[in-house]
Amino acid sequence: MGKINIAIDGPAGAGKSTVAKAIANKLGIIHLDTGTMYRAAALAALRKGVSPLDEEAVAAMLPIDIDVQYKEGAQRVLLEGEDVTEAIREHAISQAASDISRIKQVRLMLAELQRKIAEKNDVVMDGRDIGTFVLPGADYKFYLTAAPEVRAKRRLNQLKEMDQNGDYEEILKSIIARDENDIKREFAPLKKAEDAILIDSTYMSVEEVVQTILSEIK
Ligand code: DC
Repeated sequence: MGKINIAIDGPAGAGKSTVAKAIANKLGIIHLDTGTMYRAAALAALRKGVSPLDEEAVAAMLPIDIDVQYKEGAQRVLLEGEDVTEAIREHAISQAASDISRIKQVRLMLAELQRKIAEKNDVVMDGRDIGTFVLPGADYKFYLTAAPEVRAKRRLNQLKEMDQNGDYEEILKSIIARDENDIKREFAPLKKAEDAILIDSTYMSVEEVVQTILSEIK
């Protein structure tokens, strides 16, 4: 029996991870946030003083020892055995992850890891290229998006909940810059798979998005 693979792609701040986690919980399967792996790769480069834009220097670092584990059902990401799940959430890592994700060798390395996880597990995987490149044969594919202004507002609220400050204009600018970077890269760019179901969550709550997806999954 093949494993159930559910792909959720979309731009930064569309709520993919929140939604994917809820779906995985409801279905009793694992959730893999593939953005964490690009973030760990970016952290590895920054720690070594390598620019995430320097293709040659990054390629020389490969393979990077990145692994994913589950603790009480929650995904943790390990870099050279160290749990970096919290460290990769720093703001500076977001752009660095987007930059390093342009490098084909990095994408190939991480896609292989992601496919191995999908072969062995029922999984809800979220990212940018899951439905188009990593798991083109996924059982279910969704493309989750929302207006950039709404995505920026949601990020700002998330920061407030964590007692952190953020500037709306700054966040909006960085979301738009990251969209550009992710859409325009040459290899496996952010793109809706032709057979993915489009969900625009601009005017939807998380619960409504989760219900919409669950109603598609039989
Ligand atoms: O989902 P996120 O914001 O944590 O992802 C960080 C960056 O990683 C994102 O800007 C682009 C890259 N990424 C990617 O290229 N492909 C994926 N499947 C997931 C993330």
